[in-house]
Amino acid sequence: MTLDHVSEDSTPRRTSPRGGSVQLTDEEWSMADGSEGDALAAAMDLLIRYGDILGAERLVKTNNVCGAFIFGPRHSKVLETTDPVTLFSEWALDSRERLSVPPVRAHSCVQLIGPRDHQNWKLQSLSDATNKEITNSEDYLSSLGVSILNTCTPYHVGNVPTRGEHCAWMESSAVPYINSVLGARTNTEGRESTAAAMLTARIPYTGLHLTENRHATHLVRTDIPVNSIFEWSAFGYWLGWHLRDQIPVIDGIRGPVDPIALKQFGASVNSSGDVELFHIPGVTAEATSVEHALNGRAPETELVFTRRDLDAVVEHLNSTATGDEIDFVMIGCPHANLAQIRDVARLLEGRKIKDGMTFWVFTPSALREVARRSGWVDMIERAGGRVMADTCPAIGQFVPPGAKRFATDSAKQVHYLPPIMGVEGRFGDTAACVEAAITGRWVA
Ligand code: F3S
Repeated sequence: MTLDHVSEDSTPRRTSPRGGSVQLTDEEWSMADGSEGDALAAAMDLLIRYGDILGAERLVKTNNVCGAFIFGPRHSKVLETTDPVTLFSEWALDSRERLSVPPVRAHSCVQLIGPRDHQNWKLQSLSDATNKEITNSEDYLSSLGVSILNTCTPYHVGNVPTRGEHCAWMESSAVPYINSVLGARTNTEGRESTAAAMLTARIPYTGLHLTENRHATHLVRTDIPVNSIFEWSAFGYWLGWHLRDQIPVIDGIRGPVDPIALKQFGASVNSSGDVELFHIPGVTAEATSVEHALNGRAPETELVFTRRDLDAVVEHLNSTATGDEIDFVMIGCPHANLAQIRDVARLLEGRKIKDGMTFWVFTPSALREVARRSGWVDMIERAGGRVMADTCPAIGQFVPPGAKRFATDSAKQVHYLPPIMGVEGRFGDTAACVEAAITGRWVA
């Protein structure tokens, strides 16, 4: 009846140098006591402190770590240095020393995206100095063996964890995707824990790494059809409001569900709430039935999503807008896959984006290259738009100069961008966003 059981490990362990709950193997002790260098000792100390706070009894091996360490002017201003080794030592490994950082032991990538599109940074109004600083940071990370994926959707570009695989991923939309859709295991990690995990190939064995913490607590049904990507986005946002950090099992969904809809659902539910795992029997990886997801227990609560709920979410996500004029359209939060880019290109075919409008589609840089070779980048550019990579407005903290009101098909982007950048936002489906780009007006 229970969900997959993963990672029994009977290797002998003893108490860590800090004397807390975390027990270490001999191999981990040798990293912790400085025998393998100051950076590994700092990384192990960080993981032990973190694990002790969480009450973890041990660490678990991981060979799939995605974190965020592209350093730019905001970081160097605080530490008054542009030296990437110092920045990595102090920001990522919480050290007061400039450490001798060895190559990473785990397969590692930069997941949470940086503030720059490496090809279009001038469109973002970045200075030469900022561009150079970010390039130095990327060069340093790649010298350690970190893949510069620079995307919140690594699973679109080759990093697809397997069911039961212990990972240490950071980005809040990617975490529910790999936990739920793929059945991998990760908590939402931070910059520091992922840096330490990259060097040591370890992460605290706690939270969603443990089978007993992966059962559903809440039963959810929908009173209305949830089919389109737009409906899944709104559904996720509503569910996050109600659940905070609980685990839902959603009943009554007939598969298959478009993976883009599951991506948008996970991004939404982990924006309005902190839901890192959801079960949809017959669709997601682990639960075969509602009873299986609940581990035979009664749900704490049952929730029903109605037409009124959907309307309330759409109204809320449009509530920052005081008018209908649009000067900026953003597609690709989380980063778009090839099907999404192709759909946007087709919607724009033979049409012209309004003068003065900025139209940006965000995607991983590897997919931009494929989209270019497939002709879709040209189609979007001929209409007056751009395909951007490596970054996004909310995380990079930028909007086109003078932008006042933007439109997006992402509940996550419209949740975050208005408070971060002081713009107003409109939320609707992709076709409505393309129409707004052409006419300059939002039509609900
Ligand atoms: Fe990705 Fe930025 Fe959205 S990091 S999930 S495009 S807020």
